[in-house]
Amino acid sequence: MAIKKGEVAFITGAASGHGRVVIVDLNEDAGKAYAEELNKKAGSAVAISAKADTTKFEEQLAAYELAKEKFGRIDYVFANAGIAELPWLTPGPARSVSDALSQPITPPNLATVNIDLIGQLNTAALALQIFERQEKNELGLRGKLILTASVFGYYPCASMPMYATAKAGIVNFMRSAAVFFKARDVTVNCSMCYIPPLSLRSGQ
Ligand SMILES: NC(=O)c1ccc[n+]([C@@H]2O[C@H](COP(=O)([O-])OP(=O)(O)OC[C@H]3O[C@@H](n4cnc5c(N)ncnc54)[C@H](O)[C@@H]3O)[C@@H](O)[C@H]2O)c1
Repeated sequence: MAIKKGEVAFITGAASGHGRVVIVDLNEDAGKAYAEELNKKAGSAVAISAKADTTKFEEQLAAYELAKEKFGRIDYVFANAGIAELPWLTPGPARSVSDALSQPITPPNLATVNIDLIGQLNTAALALQIFERQEKNELGLRGKLILTASVFGYYPCASMPMYATAKAGIVNFMRSAAVFFKARDVTVNCSMCYIPPLSLRSGQ
């Protein structure tokens, strides 16, 4: 998607794209370095970075306040920040009943769902409230929300059940919110990436 001259995009998980961008990421150093690179290339201040953990709504809201002060309108919000599967049951599957009995019963690690689903829903909630506060643009739209899903939002993935759960949630949120927000002049879409850029890490 091309971000046209004058338009502004708010992108989470972007520290690792024309128009002006707000890079929102947990990794402050990488976010700053990328904004500097874009500003150097453009020869003007087209990018700013803001540190935020997308699982914390108030941190994303603070990033938006910064963006509004600098650029005013936000045309696109990309809810992109995400991590790969983390071991969610520790210890892993037991080899025998006695093996299982020797281990304590422990709670699950839901970090992947927290970042890949809840974090993106926080971004979506922010985006939809930003957009309803804006007038329509020349295309008759208040804004566009783009979430990052995965083919595993459609298909099961035996080795990544938490990741597949989170991405399936994103796909059905998109399907539902797209219908509801159409009447409010907002589009909601998601990308279904498959070919890996080989950089998906398993979080920090
Ligand atoms: N790489 C793939 O093969 C692939 C395939 C399908 C979908 N995706 C999706 O694409 C998106 C981006 O993946 P990527 O491959 O570019 O990953 P990446 O690890 O290169 O980049 C993810 C970025 O998100 C940031 N981040 C992680 N947790 C965060 C949090 N809580 N708050 C703010 N920022 C956070 C990281 O600092 C990093 O800059 C993810 O949603 C991922 O699920 C990736």
